[in-house]
Amino acid sequence: MAQPRKGIILVGAPGSGKGTQAKKLQEVLGYAHISTGDLLRAAVRDGTPLGAKAKGFMDEGALVPDALVIDILMEALDSLDADKLFLLDGFPRTIPQAEALDAKVTIERVIDLQVPYSILEERITGRRMSPSGHVYHVHYNPPRVNGVCDVTGEPLYQRSDDTSEKVKARWDKFESETRPVIARYQARGIVVEVDGVGHPDTIFVRIQAVLR
Ligand code: AP5
Ligand code: MG
Repeated sequence: MAQPRKGIILVGAPGSGKGTQAKKLQEVLGYAHISTGDLLRAAVRDGTPLGAKAKGFMDEGALVPDALVIDILMEALDSLDADKLFLLDGFPRTIPQAEALDAKVTIERVIDLQVPYSILEERITGRRMSPSGHVYHVHYNPPRVNGVCDVTGEPLYQRSDDTSEKVKARWDKFESETRPVIARYQARGIVVEVDGVGHPDTIFVRIQAVLR
């Protein structure tokens, strides 16, 4: 299949709401949602060679090596129709990843979700996920039936990196590796900062206003 040409990036610290907002953008505006975190977790769950290589990095809150992540991202892009707008969540996270992406597609907009560190830990430790990537929170966004995904009926699970101890390591990686990626796109004038604090529906309205 021919490669898609245009897309947007949702960027932000761990727990800033990228996955939550990406699902809404997929459902309401029809974007193809590509989350490297979801793809890597599926590989770990399926016991693939990629999953075996990635698991230790993910459990520690470290970044998976660029070559592995770039490969799965390119594969995901290649599997989409050429005219489908895509939405990247969790990629690119390093300058080499951004360079590989820019060599292949056009990024029209980067939405930078702004959430202070002080509220990320509670969001992350209360998160529950469905295997297909739907995101819940025990207080802020509970499923209708405890422990069950509203959309797919799958049992929910807690991510192995969603512990208080790992939040700091993941934040540090975001600051050291991903801030320079945001700066790269800022220099092109395509980054829009969106306040990521408030009800998820309110944040979605802010994002839609940016994309209009
Ligand atoms: P990834 O899965 O991408 O994790 P992350 O970037 O750390 O981000 P999170 O998924 O933790 O947070 P989110 O912003 O999606 O927030 P969410 O919407 O879920 O990556 C995981 C790991 O994979 C990495 O550490 C790395 O090892 C590896 N990896 C992935 N991509 C890689 C790459 N490109 N290169 C190298 N390694 C890579 O929300 C969080 C919680 O808050 C939820 O419970 C949600 O319900 C709740 N919430 C959301 N919005 C609100 C709100 N407005 N108010 C209250 N609660 C809210
Ligand atoms: Mg996520």
